[in-house]
Amino acid sequence: MNKGQLLYEGKAKRLYETENPEVLFVEYKDSATAFNGEKKANIAGKGNLNNQITTLIFEKLQANGIESHFVKRLSDNEQLVRKVEIIPIEVVTRNIAAGSLAKRLGFEEGMALKRPIVEFYYKDDTLGDPLITTEHIDVLGIATLAEVEELYNAALHVNEVLSPIFAAVGVTLIDFKLEFGRDNNGNVLLADEISPDTCRLWDTKTNQKLDKDVFRRDLGSITEVYEIILQKLGGI
Ligand code: C5P
Repeated sequence: MNKGQLLYEGKAKRLYETENPEVLFVEYKDSATAFNGEKKANIAGKGNLNNQITTLIFEKLQANGIESHFVKRLSDNEQLVRKVEIIPIEVVTRNIAAGSLAKRLGFEEGMALKRPIVEFYYKDDTLGDPLITTEHIDVLGIATLAEVEELYNAALHVNEVLSPIFAAVGVTLIDFKLEFGRDNNGNVLLADEISPDTCRLWDTKTNQKLDKDVFRRDLGSITEVYEIILQKLGGI
């Protein structure tokens, strides 16, 4: 499958056409960004790590009956995915209070929530990705109410599958962000990536942060902690 015309360049990935109109070529970049792009760095090897980790996670989800846009990994920093139209909603699921939830509701970071929480954020950089309700989604016209229910259920299902996979290797899945798209037939499909860029992952014994918070908060080398996650998931 050959790389065709560049379709889109985001903060962490480039998407290219292929000769198959239903399949895209994804290139993971060596860039790290945080705070809506205000903090940026080039980190050698990061694209490679995220490509490998995302691949392992999508494969594990598929083995547990959860389909996604992932087709196959092609090289260190490239993969093929099914083409979807991304729904501009970031679906965040949380098991433990951290990040913006801890800040917004005054919860102590690390406090276990009595149940998983699913939140929707409007994917719009100029607005700073605000938290939105189902009614906002309906009025914005970015998804139908049936799709919102589908996103909600899919997020909880991914959480039910991924939490024990991480727990088995001594990692707590604190929270994570998913994106979904619609295929040519209008079916909703899990898309984008699932990696330490999009999840909070803490060492269960030590609470060491093994995710992008290491970059956001200058806590050390992100490639070192991403390598730990890759190894724990069975990567090289
Ligand atoms: O910042 P916040 O606490 O809302 O983030 C919740 C989860 O969603 C974290 O795992 C974070 O890495 C992820 N996230 C993301 N992309 C964003 C916002 C949050 O991957 N634009």
